[in-house]
Amino acid sequence: MSKKGFIFDLDGVIVDTAKYHFLAWQKLAKSIGVDFTEVQNEQLKGVSRVKSLEKILEWGNKTLSEDQFNSLMAKKNEDYLSYIAKMDHNEILPDVPKILNYLIAQNQPISLGSASKNARQILKKVDLMDKFDAIVDGNDVSKAKPNPEVFLIAAQHLNMKPEDCIVFEDSVAGVQAANTANMISIGIGEQKVLHEADYIFSDFTEIENSFIEKLINR
Ligand code: BG6
Ligand code: MG
Repeated sequence: MSKKGFIFDLDGVIVDTAKYHFLAWQKLAKSIGVDFTEVQNEQLKGVSRVKSLEKILEWGNKTLSEDQFNSLMAKKNEDYLSYIAKMDHNEILPDVPKILNYLIAQNQPISLGSASKNARQILKKVDLMDKFDAIVDGNDVSKAKPNPEVFLIAAQHLNMKPEDCIVFEDSVAGVQAANTANMISIGIGEQKVLHEADYIFSDFTEIENSFIEKLINR
């Protein structure tokens, strides 16, 4: 049977943590007198902590010293981690274990491809660590999505060519990164946001095994 590399983003794809990133950034932005909308928040999804704060400052027309910048990033993460502390397997998104188990049963290599520096901690919390052959996260990359670095490293770990990899993403930046890497991009979320993806589903409950088989054998 042929093999493909299946690469999963974490936040908003495997676990329902995108809402916690939003809440934490929103609180932080308010504390420095910046307001941003859920539509603007789509631009924060998938991108690194540093890039996210840079965007928020740009929207609010603010400049900060390096110390202030670093202390705000630490504050955001502290707040985010207070949400994560309460997390358990109930925050795994619908049918994620089903698709991971199906891929494992089909002997397909699986990697995480996340911008988050908290990825390992979260996977441990929801007990999904052992489903992955490789984990590439925010600690392993120097370039934020939409740069394809994270997915290209994941492909290397899986020993797969980029064109034989399939990426599941909930963010515009992540879909763009997958496309730039020359991988198949599968958007998980809304059509109007993720229209650049090769395929779009609102969640994994919409993905049939026959679709996965088609991807494996294409
Ligand atoms: C991505 C999230 O997965 O990770 C972003 O979509 C977040 O919202 C980024 O900024 C970095 O995560 P963290 O946990 O290292 O701050
Ligand atoms: Mg995401």
